[in-house]
Amino acid sequence: MSPSATPIVAIAELSSHVGQDVTVRGWLYNKRSSKNVHFLEVRDGSGIVQAVVFKGNVTPELFALAEGLAQESSLEVSGLVKEHGKIKGTYEIDGKDVRVVAHVARQYPISPKEHGTDFLMDNRHLWLRSKRQHAILRIRHTIIKAVRDFFDGRGFTLVDAPIFTPNACEGTSTLFETDYHGEPAYLTQSGQLYMEAAAAAVGKAYCFGPTFRAEKSKTRRHLAEFWMVEPEVAFLDLEGDMKLGEDFITYIVERVLETRREELKVCERDTTFLEKVKTPFPRITYGEAIKILQENGHPEAKVGDDFGGDEETIISNKFDRPLIVHRYPADIKAFYFKRAPENESLVLNMDILAPEGYGEIIGGGQREDSLERLESAIAHHKLPPEAFEWYLDLRRYGSFPHAGFGLGIERTVSWICGLPHVRETIPFPRMLNRLAP
Ligand code: 4AD
Repeated sequence: MSPSATPIVAIAELSSHVGQDVTVRGWLYNKRSSKNVHFLEVRDGSGIVQAVVFKGNVTPELFALAEGLAQESSLEVSGLVKEHGKIKGTYEIDGKDVRVVAHVARQYPISPKEHGTDFLMDNRHLWLRSKRQHAILRIRHTIIKAVRDFFDGRGFTLVDAPIFTPNACEGTSTLFETDYHGEPAYLTQSGQLYMEAAAAAVGKAYCFGPTFRAEKSKTRRHLAEFWMVEPEVAFLDLEGDMKLGEDFITYIVERVLETRREELKVCERDTTFLEKVKTPFPRITYGEAIKILQENGHPEAKVGDDFGGDEETIISNKFDRPLIVHRYPADIKAFYFKRAPENESLVLNMDILAPEGYGEIIGGGQREDSLERLESAIAHHKLPPEAFEWYLDLRRYGSFPHAGFGLGIERTVSWICGLPHVRETIPFPRMLNRLAP
């Protein structure tokens, strides 16, 4: 039987072809052999299927060809689709023909045995072919689709922010500087300032793209390049921003639970906490968060401290759902937040912390809308005023209350998939000491 004589089918579609001869195209994932039979596990990106090649059903040449196949050879297998004898709902192919597209002449570097993280990261371009990495890629895809559907369904306009910028949005210590035709420019840390301009134009705007931070320390939550979605809404206050953030996270989790149960299983994710993600999320002030730290093994914690991963874990472990912490001291936050009217030393910001120790996934809040206050904040943070002239125009021409936030895609994938480190949440991570592959 020639492969071209039978319909070419994706492995995920085999259930609708039981009893028919088909061809699948893909790569050899694994092979077990005995004297009279070869079990070829073939993957095509849509799934994995076992093709059973019996000695008696094929020519001696074909049986020998199957015998010699090395892992990750690309091939076409044709045969009859059957429901698996033992596992209901899975299918196999009674192999009648195998055509090799490209042989593999070397030992494939990644085997089922345990490999060290550095080895796997060096071979990331191949590691992506494994089942678990597929599952993570698919969940990431679903999260990104949910991000877009959420905002598109609520009247937001997607407004792309630039990657090269003269502005330090999130402090000067994590800037990647580049040479822009002889002028210094930075890779964007956040599209927020541009979304504030966009909110004045379209009311509800969001951007979604890569952002860059020259993080100087190795942690399990920091990448040098990560994807962030940033909504910004005109006439929204902090309360409305917190509501938007919790609705957004709930929507994303529901979508993953609806459509990616199988992939979560592959990640060995216990979904107990994900099932509890329902609005409203508990809300505490920064002051209350400091008290939790003091009462839980950190008596030295004091107002003015910023929270790292360990502190966030202690605080969020008191709750079984994502937690909103709001009103931090102005001194430890970016220049653009509006001061809290009831206490001028605080700002109207909020962070949303994922449960189970996954830490902050959203950071945002209400923006300063007074021109004078913003000018003095820019001076106080020692930012170059000329680079912010355009931003100040937003306060000169019809200043308006507004708020927004940024959600980091990789931290969200890491939490939803239950991955302790962000390195597996993005196809090709960029971290301190890692630029390849
Ligand atoms: O809290 P951040 O720094 O907020 C901003 O950048 C605001 N300008 C966003 C806004 O209001 N429009 O970052 C927001 C989120 C964090 O909660 C985290 O999920 C993610 O971005 N994030 C990182 N993810 C991976 N690696 C890093 N180095 C990250 N830094 C921030």
